[in-house]
Amino acid sequence: MSIPSHIAIIMDGNGRWAEKRGLERIEGHRIGAEVADAVSQWCADSGIKYVTLYAFSTENWKRPRHEVNYLFELMLMYITSQLERMLKEEVRMRFMGRLNELPEKLLDFTRYIEEKTRNCSKLNVIVALNYGGRAELLDAVTSLIRKGRSEITESDISSCLYIPDLPEPDLIIRTSGERRLSNFLLWQCSYSEFFFTDTLWPDFSKKEFLSILEDYSKRKRRFGAVDI
Ligand code: FPP
Repeated sequence: MSIPSHIAIIMDGNGRWAEKRGLERIEGHRIGAEVADAVSQWCADSGIKYVTLYAFSTENWKRPRHEVNYLFELMLMYITSQLERMLKEEVRMRFMGRLNELPEKLLDFTRYIEEKTRNCSKLNVIVALNYGGRAELLDAVTSLIRKGRSEITESDISSCLYIPDLPEPDLIIRTSGERRLSNFLLWQCSYSEFFFTDTLWPDFSKKEFLSILEDYSKRKRRFGAVDI
């Protein structure tokens, strides 16, 4: 079976999952964080090398203040509680986005986790945090202008993305029935395969994950060429 090297996931539907059960939206995020953790284990078990999780977009600041604060607290708590296991299981965690705009405590934390796990190499978990595809492109082009460049190539842009050595995603999964990209990995997705499922993120299971891998393995990727 052909296994994607890099899977990127839009973990959507936490709020609806909670509302359907008469719970506060943040309960959906709490369970969603547990699923994110489980997914990283399923990726490691399947031989996937990179998984990128869309945890907070540049547009998510429009949410109620208490939800935004809860999401940040959740990430701090959850990732801290997983640190020992990440080190044991050789998981490197990196963050991508406009990290400088995050609250200082969270920014320091992202640096701490990146430093602690920098030598781990079994699985790379990338958390997209205050991330927007347009912001990433603007930041890349701005840095090229600041270097005095007047002509640029595709590889110049790729080399100025937040994580330049991150391979492009082979597969992008979005849960919750929405069929859009919502400003995720706009540059990197040009030849990604997409998989949309109606399942709400907190209900996402290993069985469904494996069935998506199986679906992916049957796809023919031609990257604009023809089969010979
Ligand atoms: C979208 O669901 C989900 C988010 C904006 C947050 C996702 C964050 C997590 C699952 C926590 C991640 C934690 C770690 C450790 C990476 P929604 O709230 O937009 O759902 P709705 O569309 O049903 O309202």
